[in-house]
Amino acid sequence: MNEAIKPPEQRPEHPDFWCKRFGQGVTPWDAGRVPAAFADFIARQPAPENTLIPGCGSAWEAAHLAGRGWPVTALDFSPTAIAAAREIIGDDAVDLLCADFFDFPVTTPYRLIYERAFLCALPRKLWAAWGRRVAELLPPGGRLAGYFFLCDQAKGPPFGILPEQLDALLAEHFELIEDAAVDDSCPVFAGRERWQVWRRRPA
Ligand SMILES: C[S@@+](CC[C@H](N)C(=O)[O-])C[C@H]1O[C@@H](n2cnc3c(N)ncnc32)[C@H](O)[C@@H]1O
Repeated sequence: MNEAIKPPEQRPEHPDFWCKRFGQGVTPWDAGRVPAAFADFIARQPAPENTLIPGCGSAWEAAHLAGRGWPVTALDFSPTAIAAAREIIGDDAVDLLCADFFDFPVTTPYRLIYERAFLCALPRKLWAAWGRRVAELLPPGGRLAGYFFLCDQAKGPPFGILPEQLDALLAEHFELIEDAAVDDSCPVFAGRERWQVWRRRPA
């Protein structure tokens, strides 16, 4: 079917696609817990940093950060995902926003953007805009940290990205400072995701 005439619930760039899956409980990407490399990374940091979690889904990591006194914004454009996140977060101090990553207004600059299963949820036509947006949101020294689905899987979501394609999106503004294998992946990502940290270069 022509992309342009597909209904919204079949187009991952549309919130209805994700609302349908959260509504039906079909969320194979959802770890149901905080992944190990993320928890280890946070434990290594000397002080809390203002953090953005775009495409947060159930937002397990937001609850983890808030519980440790980190200021955190968890953002998702699907109201059904936000409702799921609200259940997980409870009364924790998380700024939970139902908004589009590409055009939400920023009030306090972020130092850290946490990536998990967000870039791989975006169709390829949005990748360049994602690269520009993370560079725009982070100041020099700010970091983009998380999990990247590194493979040649054109049909998605999850959409795989090759290391050289990710490099093409980020290298102008970021340097890769951590890159490690992951051993607690969900089955949909197993063997094909890596933990990476990219640091924003001076402007
Ligand atoms: C595969 S899920 C991953 C959820 C979560 N990060 C996790 O690890 O479980 C992708 C999420 O990104 C959200 N999303 C996709 N495009 C978005 C956009 N442009 N702005 C905000 N959220 C978006 C979807 O609604 C969905 O909840």
